Amino acid sequence: MKRRSVVIGLTAAAAAMPAVGFASSARAASGAATGTAADADASLVFDPAAYTEQTTEITDTTGTAHEVVYRFYKAITYVAKPVDATYQCLNVSVPVKIDGTAVDASAAPIFLPNAVGGYMPSSVANNTGIGGAAFGGGTSRGQLALAAGYVVVEPGARGRSLVNASGEYYGTAPAAIVDLKAAVRYVRFNKGRIPGNVNRIVSSGTSAGGALSTLLGASGDSPLYDSYLEAIGAADASDAIFAVGAWCPITDLEHADMAYEWCYGSNKLPSGSLVDQTISKELSTAYGDYVATLGLRAKGFGSLTTRNLDEYLVKTILEPSATTYLAALSDADRATYLAANTSIKWADGKASFTWDEFLTHLGARSKNTPAFDAFDLSTPENNLYGTGTTAARHFTLFSLRHESGSSARLDEDLPGKLNLMNPMYHLVENVNRHRAKHWWIRNGATDTATSYSVTGNLHARLKQLGDEVSTKYYWDAGHGADQDPGEFLKWIGEVSGYSKSRGAGTS
Ligand code: DHB
Repeated sequence: MKRRSVVIGLTAAAAAMPAVGFASSARAASGAATGTAADADASLVFDPAAYTEQTTEITDTTGTAHEVVYRFYKAITYVAKPVDATYQCLNVSVPVKIDGTAVDASAAPIFLPNAVGGYMPSSVANNTGIGGAAFGGGTSRGQLALAAGYVVVEPGARGRSLVNASGEYYGTAPAAIVDLKAAVRYVRFNKGRIPGNVNRIVSSGTSAGGALSTLLGASGDSPLYDSYLEAIGAADASDAIFAVGAWCPITDLEHADMAYEWCYGSNKLPSGSLVDQTISKELSTAYGDYVATLGLRAKGFGSLTTRNLDEYLVKTILEPSATTYLAALSDADRATYLAANTSIKWADGKASFTWDEFLTHLGARSKNTPAFDAFDLSTPENNLYGTGTTAARHFTLFSLRHESGSSARLDEDLPGKLNLMNPMYHLVENVNRHRAKHWWIRNGATDTATSYSVTGNLHARLKQLGDEVSTKYYWDAGHGADQDPGEFLKWIGEVSGYSKSRGAGTS
């Protein structure tokens, strides 16, 4: 598939312009702020004057270059009691002029792209202008959002590998989500001081960042995080967000081993060998019980179980993905593709295949078994659930008992922490009314970083809750793919009502 290129270049003129003071006029223009300085630490009051003005050239997804002048607010610590301000800080970019025309971003959506990858720490502290995303070789949804006239808030967050001088891990679960919530609270607390509409905060992220973006949307205003937020001195404000963009979210971690075997159990590793089929089948069978507990239903499928989840994925997401891809090819190219990919059928303008044919088309799985809670504690997720001076722990009974015997119990803190990290825990009827209601979910159709059922279940659950959901897979695309960033930006404009209010689409 042809990927749209995004060319971003910071002009030389953008380099380190002096701060320009507009404090009084900016305050006068923005009106009263909702967060009262009296009941919050003064350090959390955003200073509208503390920016540098920068100029950058941003080429949009249609190939048109835009000159964007923006105010850049750098490395603002978003909590009053930071554990590590290198990570617990954010950058704000506010467009003031696009292609020579003045922009008023005071009512614009606020785009919140996190750059988390692998559940590792992510920092924006040293960025000298609006940054790039974690994936995609410099492509940045944030830069596109800026060129579309949105306010962009780039949050850093602690991550799993951070360790202090006493050997204590201080970025393991749930640190990253607590930090992202604190960043949202900071933005809301500074309503009117940071330009933009705090009721239209749109998060985005890829992979682990996609998982955190999903979780941010799913758990908005949940009181379960309060003690953690209090401990770091987060602003006293709502952490609910309006919409979520999530690319290949690596989520539902404590069920991801089971999901992985249900999905790829009989696919070989790149080495050509099968994983331990006894382990694989035990996990796959257990997945059936888990999926049943979700109580998922989908139009045309009734209850979703592991008996029809494959069909659901094929019909709802995978075949449409292949159809889009093949329909865009010339007749000759399509014929060549079909001759080389014999598992995929094409008739009457539609692609078709069974689940098994899809798995054949896919080829090798990328992870051994168990894929996430490895017996040898070697995965990113083992580290994510580390604590204190323990770098990595088991977080499923299956792997723990495989290693430590059938009476072993998970550490006491783990069940609660798993819930704090799992959007599926929060996405339950009548539980979290402040969850995001607009969802953009994307996945590469050859991405084997997690089971397809992870996004499939998420999609089904959100539809069931009545939310507005756009889910698509990019055919034959791998981990971290983003092939329709322009459509995403347009979608933000539409669901937020902002394009309509301005009587125009976004670029
Ligand atoms: C990511 C990838 C993984 O395979 C995983 O297990 C966790 C995170 C990532 O790319 O962020």
